[in-house]
Amino acid sequence: MTVDLLLGLQWGDEGKGKIVDVLTSKYDIIARFQGGPNAGHTLEFDGIKHVLRTIPSGIFHKNAINIIGNGVVMDPVVFQKELEGLEKFNMDVKSKLLISRKAHLILPTHRLLDAASEASKGKAKIGSTLKGIGPTYMDKTGRNGIRIGDIELADFKERYRSLADKHQAMIAFYDVDLQYDLKEMEDEFFASIEVLKSLTFIDSEEYLNQAIKSGKSILCEGAQGSLLDIDFGTYPFVTSSNTTAAGACTGLGIAPNKVKDVFGIFKAYTTRVGSGPFPTELFDEDGQTMAKVGNEFGSVTGRARRCGWLDLVALKYAVQVNGVTALYMMKGDVLSGFKKLNVCTAYKYKGKEISHFPYNIEPENVEPIYTEMKGWQADLTTMTSYEELPQELKTYIEFIEKEVEVPIKVVSVGPDRKQTILK
Ligand code: GDP
Ligand code: IMO
Ligand code: MG
Repeated sequence: MTVDLLLGLQWGDEGKGKIVDVLTSKYDIIARFQGGPNAGHTLEFDGIKHVLRTIPSGIFHKNAINIIGNGVVMDPVVFQKELEGLEKFNMDVKSKLLISRKAHLILPTHRLLDAASEASKGKAKIGSTLKGIGPTYMDKTGRNGIRIGDIELADFKERYRSLADKHQAMIAFYDVDLQYDLKEMEDEFFASIEVLKSLTFIDSEEYLNQAIKSGKSILCEGAQGSLLDIDFGTYPFVTSSNTTAAGACTGLGIAPNKVKDVFGIFKAYTTRVGSGPFPTELFDEDGQTMAKVGNEFGSVTGRARRCGWLDLVALKYAVQVNGVTALYMMKGDVLSGFKKLNVCTAYKYKGKEISHFPYNIEPENVEPIYTEMKGWQADLTTMTSYEELPQELKTYIEFIEKEVEVPIKVVSVGPDRKQTILK
């Protein structure tokens, strides 16, 4: 029996999807524990590139069971499109994909509320993906939400109507100009509910705990990143769920003492999409190079990702909050060609040097303090062993390990499954 967690340590898009796919052959079950279609997890293999939203990243493997946990919020409309996108691969998706009855449903009006809330904030907007994530989790914690299991109830449509009507009154309250055809959105929603009903709904906490008892191995897949966590992220510029390790326990019903390893995924630099503070952000040519070489555009929204140097203050914080036992460093190949690299090792916070992640990292309070390191020139994308990597990169890796006090077990040198080097 093994339960391991895999999660992002920065502001999302670290490469979680790729690594879950790489690791799936070692597990019986892959279980998504939070977030929803705000996520875009990219997998590349055999010349295929595929982006998953709510479906766990183990779906391409023949034998693994994939579970959408109770902590996830599901939009049936996006989910239907996701299923359709998988049709061309000729897999029996339905037999290996199970959905928790306790996962919450994103209604069309949740998406509208997200848009209205963002529009009303003007410049202070979160930069949400507009997938209805925040409003759906608000209804969950406010005890008004509709769950997947409710689809099976006789009064599902009445429940839907009552909540959607309430939402419409709330949308009117925002007093923003929002153009929409709710009837059309609802037709699409109810058609996709029929598709959703063709899948298997389970009591996932029971399923997972029985699996643990019978010796099965489980990899829990996180979405977003630790700095977007509702409690520990850069609030209010965060998502609405616990993206950190504790979220796997509440999002799946797995007790903390069942968890063994926590794999922390991070990029060799830093990116962020949407608003919010980002101390090591670059506005110069170096940032543009990272964006261009790293193809830093959101997998879901296509928005340009902001780029900057690696921030070890933030990384250490994420490692601590998650209890990370092994690090996976992604996109090292993107840094090839830089003469010098900066790594943030401390912050100047209100004039004083600090090495912890403080309450407030707004630019008026925080200035990064850098350690300069030598870059490497070689193309890493065809390298297959740790020995082959340039010495400057090995020094970079060893420096991170020493600062963060957790070993880097894998170095990813390209988007493909095969471009993954074990250390
Ligand atoms: P996720 O949300 O954490 O699964 O990450 P995304 O899929 O949103 O973004 C990561 C992007 O980087 C995707 O386009 C991946 O194909 C790509 N990628 C992953 N690992 C590497 C790597 O080591 N090198 C390069 N160049 N690209 C990578
Ligand atoms: P994956 O799983 C990167 C960001 C949004 C916005 C904030 C809130 O692919 O790493 P939301 O729609 O959740 O209310 O948006 O969080 N965000 C992500 N950024 N990767 C993600 O997911 C993200 N999911 C949400 O850009 O700043
Ligand atoms: Mg992503």
